[in-house]
Amino acid sequence: MTRDRSIKIAPSILSADFADFGREIEAVEAQGADWIHVDVMDGHFVPNLTFGPPAVKAFRKHVKTVMDVHLMIAPVDPYIDAYADAGADILTAHVEAGPHIHRTLQAIRGAGMKAGVALNPGTPAEAVAHVLDLADLICVMTVNPGFGGQKFINMTGKIRQLRNMIGDRPIHIEIDGGVTPETAPMVVEAGADVLVAGSAVFKGGSRANPDPYGENIRALRAAVTRQEAAE
Ligand code: DX5
Ligand code: ZN
Repeated sequence: MTRDRSIKIAPSILSADFADFGREIEAVEAQGADWIHVDVMDGHFVPNLTFGPPAVKAFRKHVKTVMDVHLMIAPVDPYIDAYADAGADILTAHVEAGPHIHRTLQAIRGAGMKAGVALNPGTPAEAVAHVLDLADLICVMTVNPGFGGQKFINMTGKIRQLRNMIGDRPIHIEIDGGVTPETAPMVVEAGADVLVAGSAVFKGGSRANPDPYGENIRALRAAVTRQEAAE
C-alpha cells in the first residue's frame, strides 16, 4: 500500500497566536504543512466563537497551500457565499447542523468550492450514505467540536466503515481532534488521509521560533509513514 504519499497534515490555526495569524500561517507552511485548517465557530452549534468571513478573507492572503474551512455553525446555507468570497478552497459543514445537508453540499460545490461533510463523535457513518456523490471530504470528529487540546476519542470503526462506503470515489477522510504521533497511526491504518492537528503542531514553537512546528509536523508524518510501512 502506498497511501503514505498522500497523507496531508493540516495544522489548525485554533492553536496559533491569535494576534498574529498571517505570520503563523506562513510559519507552519514553511515548516511543511500541507493544508491550513480554519475552525469557524458560532457560539450556538458549538460553545465557542471564532472567525467570521472577513477574518477568513484576511487569512487567505497568507495561505499558499489549501485553505480548509471547517464550519461549526448552524445554519450554514446563509453563509456559503460569504466563505466562498473569503477564499475557502474546501468548505465543510456538519451533518448535524441542519436538516438539508444534501442541499448544503450542492450549494458549496455550486459556489465553486470542494464540499466537506463533518460527523460528530455521536453520529453514525450512515448519516452520509446518501450524500457521498456530493462530497469531496468527510471529516470524522475525534473530539466533540468546540475546543482545541481535547482528548482523542477512538473512531476507527467509523473510519473503516466510511472507507468501505466510499469505495472508488475520490473522497478524503479527514480526522479532526486529538491527533498526535500516538493516535495518528491508528486513524491512517483505518483509512484516513488528512490529519488535522492543532496543539500537536503548535506546541513548543512560535512564529519567532518556528522550528518546533517543523519537528512536530515531521513527527506526525513519521508516525504514519511507519504505520504504512508496517502494513
Ligand atoms: C475542534 C476543532 C479542531 C481543533 C483540533 O472543534 O475542529 O480543528 O482545533 O485541535 P487539537 O488538534 O488540539 O485537538
Ligand atoms: Zn476543525
